[in-house]
Amino acid sequence: MTQPSVHSVDRVVVTIPTIAEAEKFYTAFGMNVKKNGDHIDLYTHGHPHCWMSVTANGKPKQLQYIRFGIYEQDVASFEVVVAKSGLACKPHPMALAQGSEKGIWLKTPDGTVLQLVVAEKVSPTQKSPKATPRGAARPPASAHMRSKQTSVHPRWLSHVLLFSPDVSGMVTFCEDVLGLKLSDRSVDIVAFMHTPHGSDHHLFAFVKSDGPGLHHTSWDVGSLDDVGEGSEQLRTAGYPDGWGVGRHVLGSNYFYYARDPWGSFAEYSFDIDYVAKGKDWVSGDYPPEDSFYLWGPAVPEWFTVNTETAKAA
Ligand SMILES: [Fe+2]
Repeated sequence: MTQPSVHSVDRVVVTIPTIAEAEKFYTAFGMNVKKNGDHIDLYTHGHPHCWMSVTANGKPKQLQYIRFGIYEQDVASFEVVVAKSGLACKPHPMALAQGSEKGIWLKTPDGTVLQLVVAEKVSPTQKSPKATPRGAARPPASAHMRSKQTSVHPRWLSHVLLFSPDVSGMVTFCEDVLGLKLSDRSVDIVAFMHTPHGSDHHLFAFVKSDGPGLHHTSWDVGSLDDVGEGSEQLRTAGYPDGWGVGRHVLGSNYFYYARDPWGSFAEYSFDIDYVAKGKDWVSGDYPPEDSFYLWGPAVPEWFTVNTETAKAA
């Protein structure tokens, strides 16, 4: 039996204290926010897929589970792999309550619940393409008028980065159970995984912490200008805290991380490296000073605080 591989991050499911602040933040970020009973579903404008579900439960923000997409022909192989791993678990109660408990359920070694479902591949099939500029052109000048700015709208989910107390253990789990491949890492501090079915340099990644949790979701935008104008969009909407604009080394993307009301982040990403289906990526293990960012402002001290662990709460 060949090792099957997940092909996409299909859904991120989190709980937060109140729905109104989530609706306001993600709308300001540029998402297409749809109310659905007791939760909101996050779409990107012009794309049919629901990437994220956010439910209010009156408690501090917590990652509940992540759904991965798999191909139909890999279901039997995944059932064997998950059974052998000893990590199978019952469906998450929120999925049961919403009637979306189908598929294979398991926990990562650090306790994060995952769901594997047969789904259409929604991870990108090509490198983040540059979009035509938004706003009214005024040739031959390159920059459009500030008064003519339109909202930055992310195009799709690029990746999810989780906190983990055991980054190396998560890499092994991703390779042996999810079929992901290591793109790059920096010792046991951070690691980035791609799918052999073709994805960005990372669709799933980890950073060292004292426990599991969601650090950020990352959303592809169409230009470096979109990254910068997105940061302005959030400052204008009353969200002044963030990190960027800058450029990562591992992954190479231009970034701006907007700090959400719960202390985690939504990232605008442009021009991330792409690992095409059937292509090898020569992974490296880089020292911290060569792995984080090429240029950008100083990293805020709250950037790597895990608000989901008891120590931070
Ligand atoms: Fe990221």
